Amino acid sequence: MNDAAWWQSAIIYQIYPRSFQDSNGDGIGDLRGIEARLDTLVELGIDAIWISPIFPSPMADFGYDVADYCGIDPRFGTLADFDSLLAAAHARGIKLLLDLVPNHSSDQHPWFVESRSSRDNPKRDWYIWRDPAPDGGPPNNWISDFGGSAWEWDDATGQYYYHAFLKEQPDLNWRNPAVRAAMMDVLRFWFARGIDGFRIDVLWHMVKHADFPDNPVNAEWQPGMPDYMRVHQTHSADQPEIHDIAAEMRQIADAHGARVLIGEIYLPVPDLVRYYGTVDTPGVHLPFNFQLIGAEWDAPALAAMIDAYEAALPPGGWPNWVLGNHDRPRIATRVGAEQARVAMLLLLTLRGTPTLYNGDELGIADVDIPAEQVQDPRELNEPGIGMGRDPVRTPMAWDVGPNASFTSATPWLPLHADWASRNVAVQRGDPASMWRLTQKLLALRRAHPALALGDYHPVAASGALLAYERRLGTDRVLVVLNLGGTPQSFAIPEWAEGLAVVAAAQGGADPALLGPHEGYVLA
Ligand code: NOJ
Repeated sequence: MNDAAWWQSAIIYQIYPRSFQDSNGDGIGDLRGIEARLDTLVELGIDAIWISPIFPSPMADFGYDVADYCGIDPRFGTLADFDSLLAAAHARGIKLLLDLVPNHSSDQHPWFVESRSSRDNPKRDWYIWRDPAPDGGPPNNWISDFGGSAWEWDDATGQYYYHAFLKEQPDLNWRNPAVRAAMMDVLRFWFARGIDGFRIDVLWHMVKHADFPDNPVNAEWQPGMPDYMRVHQTHSADQPEIHDIAAEMRQIADAHGARVLIGEIYLPVPDLVRYYGTVDTPGVHLPFNFQLIGAEWDAPALAAMIDAYEAALPPGGWPNWVLGNHDRPRIATRVGAEQARVAMLLLLTLRGTPTLYNGDELGIADVDIPAEQVQDPRELNEPGIGMGRDPVRTPMAWDVGPNASFTSATPWLPLHADWASRNVAVQRGDPASMWRLTQKLLALRRAHPALALGDYHPVAASGALLAYERRLGTDRVLVVLNLGGTPQSFAIPEWAEGLAVVAAAQGGADPALLGPHEGYVLA
């Protein structure tokens, strides 16, 4: 156990900085706000925070369009505020991860401003410029994840540039060694400043096929589905050369000591696990495992998914689980408020590093955003098909003060309607709350080596009943979950008969007969 790296037994808490805590009355969260709330996070029991991008940005994609990789956007604060936050986090034993966005920059980044200024600018090849197809149209059929052609015509220089996301987010050309060197310096800059790791945005998108062939058309696409699904991203993502880049990032991380790299990758498991690299040439420490976000919520399906993932991990590859993030519908909306408590038990007792998205510890659901208040470019580009991310990015609710004490101004997005009861202060005072359940589970992870680092053994999976054991040495923990709304009986294995219920999703006490949406941890 002592050999384990800190990030193996840690829980990572994702902070969406615009929505966490405003300290200067502009309706938007900021770094001083985060610092002011660190003690609450310590009390909750988290080990590390990952903060979505805080760098200078025109905010076309709310910070995922970076105009300066080594600064802080004034809306979030200053570099001095950042240093102060980092020191305050470290003083409390909390690690801090930043969000690296290496696939693309903002179109306002000086690199792109230079690149688009003329065809013979030295930075022209830092981005992906191509001549039109013979008919004058885009060079190929690649589609932006946010809808429409991924190619934008530039009249001044008579070429198209490629953008996997918004046209304000031109893709960098990672086949150019100068780009690679410049971005590796960004990693060094922040590591030298003392951060503990990076979450790497769309890692699997970074290298494209050198010849830019058309992507295969998706015969299953229908109107109402997002535009990007018209084609399979066969040639525009997940190219073999990416692994060499991930390995170089890993070398830089390792050279700075106990740091961690987490890759954002939406791929099937066999492709996903390649991002761990090999024993000789390791890639990122944790390729994000998003399977719980899209999982079918029944026991055989979840058990099979866990088994397949465990079996696919390469030697030394440490698992991880994610229940939600700033891009996907919240768990309380996907499975309902009561079942979200069971999902929290699942997230915090599976083998591997869990990532918890801010607000999920309060059981917040997606918030309906009136059309005139929509902010997310993804929703604005493709309205009404469920792609908008504003509903999961609404402000944190801290107490019963005005605007739940998130801000003294008008919040940039509305709060959830039930914020007066669903907030940290109220839930902290209610032993039956989601916040307190989360706190209890995090304390159990610290108390039980089996939960933090132990093996996973399946015990039962039928209908809505899922049970598994976590074991390390003599420490054994049994987890029994009812994934549905009808009671489930469970035959407690002999070895577990002496164990006590140490956490319950709904507060019952009989693991042999689970009520609706009940779940137990026995230790
Ligand atoms: C993934 C991020 O999580 C998302 O919010 C962003 O829009 C895209 N990458 C583009 O950077």
